[in-house]
Parts: sequence; structure tokens; C-alpha cells
Amino acid sequence: MNRGQQEYYKRDYAQAKLEGKPFFPYAVYKDLLIATLAIAAVIGMSIWHRVEIGEPVNPASTDFVPRPEWYFFFLFELLKIFEGQNALMPVIMATFIVPNILMVLLIATPFIDRGPERRIEKRPFALFTGIAVIAFLGYMTHLGAGSHGGVGTDGLPLTGLDEKGQAGAELFVANQCTACHNVAGVGAPGPGPDLTNLGSQGQTPEHWAEFIKAPPGGVMPAFTTFTPQQYDEIGTFLAGLGTQYK
Ligand code: HEC
Repeated sequence: MNRGQQEYYKRDYAQAKLEGKPFFPYAVYKDLLIATLAIAAVIGMSIWHRVEIGEPVNPASTDFVPRPEWYFFFLFELLKIFEGQNALMPVIMATFIVPNILMVLLIATPFIDRGPERRIEKRPFALFTGIAVIAFLGYMTHLGAGSHGGVGTDGLPLTGLDEKGQAGAELFVANQCTACHNVAGVGAPGPGPDLTNLGSQGQTPEHWAEFIKAPPGGVMPAFTTFTPQQYDEIGTFLAGLGTQYK
């Protein structure tokens, strides 16, 4: 701010102060009114618009795919942008590096933008940045709302998935079968065999359902807690790998 602008600002401020109203009681009254309305709205909603409590938590559930609240969808979506071979990378980037860069920029804003102008139309850069950030967050929230499952649930690069196959694929990822098996380039290289072309063995879904209930080798754990429908889904998925789903 140069001297002229400073003088102008001081005069402007003195003038505004002369015309203005004192903090007490005017501003206090306004705050009180809005606070009362806000609290009344919360009380009203808790009386007339109750939220259901829902099912008790089931710790044995294996197909639960955690989803964040809607206001975290943009972070959730950010995880996917950095998704790669390495499981830790998206977490570090999306929950630490990117948010911290943004926080530092926010804190540094008054030091970077030192222009005296306060009218928004005279601050095109600030206006553009503000709109861009809000638009980006809105877009990411929209994407996050539309995507199903957790990170990587739809990460198996398979085509031809029908409804059962998709459900099986989700069970496959949610139960961490990918910790030991590779399917179409996703998952660990071992100790379990690559399942990309499992379907070419020509086995039935029932065969694979029985297999995962009691794997013969002793390395793979037995998966005994699925429902009959889930055994059918994951069996169908396994039996179709490489033939129907590839
Ligand atoms: C701890 C590692 C591990 C996990 C987790 C695991 N497996 Fe396995 N899987 C193996 C190993 C090792 C074998 C080889 C046979 C054996 O040891 O029983 C195998 C074999 C298989 C086979 C037979 C492959 C063939 O070519 O005959 C299928 C199908 C299979 N696993 C499916 C699954 C599914 C589905 C899941 C998740 C619900 C899963 N596995 C989780 C280690 C694992």
C-alpha cells in the first residue's frame, strides 16, 4: 500500500465509522438473533426429522466396504487419482501431501497477495483461484458420490462383468484375496497362483466355492463365513476368469 492509498483508506474508514452503528447493541442483537434461529432449527430437526439409528455393527461382516461421509468424498476420490502399484502412495499423497500443500498456500495467501484492493471484481486472480478450488472440490465430491466401493474395489481391470461377476469381484477385493493372488495385473505376485486365467480350467462355480471353504494346501486360509449367495457370486467370478471376465 502506498502513502496515497493509506491516506485514502484512513479517510474512508473514519467516514464509515461516523456513519456506522455501535457494536452494542446492534451487532450483538444480530448475532443473538441468528444464533437463536440456528439452535431452534437444530432442535426442530431433532424433534421432527429424526435420523434412523440402523442395524447394530456386525464385526464378522466380510463384505462391508467402508465409505466416508459425503463431505469427505473429494478426499476419497483423491485417493483414486494416486492409485498405483504401491498401496501406501495414495494414502500419503491424498491425506498428507496434497492437503498440507493446500493448507500452507491458504496460510500464505495474505503474504503472497498483498494488493490493497478489496473489491472482488478488481481481484481477478483471487476470484479465479477461489472459483477453481470450489469447482474442483465440487467435481471431486460428485465423482466420489457416484463411485462405488472402497479404493480398488472396481480396480480389477476386467471387462464382461455381469451383476454376479461384479459382486464376486467386489468380494474378491474386499476380502483381500489380492494380498496373495494376482488377477489381470492387480494384486500380489504370490504366494497364491495367478488367477487371471482360472476359468480356462473349466471348473464350475460350485467347485471354487468348495475350494475356498477348505483350500487343500494349508497356505491359503479357509473362507467359511460367506453366505450361500456370496459363495455363488465369488464362485461364478472365479469360474469365469479369463473366459467370460477378461
Ligand atoms: C494367505 C494367502 C492367500 C489368500 C489371502 C488367498 N489365497 Fe487363494 N491360494 C493361496 C495359495 C498359496 C494357493 C495354492 C493352493 C493352496 O495352497 O491351497 C491358493 C489357491 C487358490 C485357488 C486355486 C488356484 C488354482 O489354480 O487351482 C483359488 C481359486 C483361490 N486361491 C482363490 C482365493 C480367493 C477367492 C481368495 C479370497 C477370498 C483367496 N484365494 C485368498 C493363497 C491365498
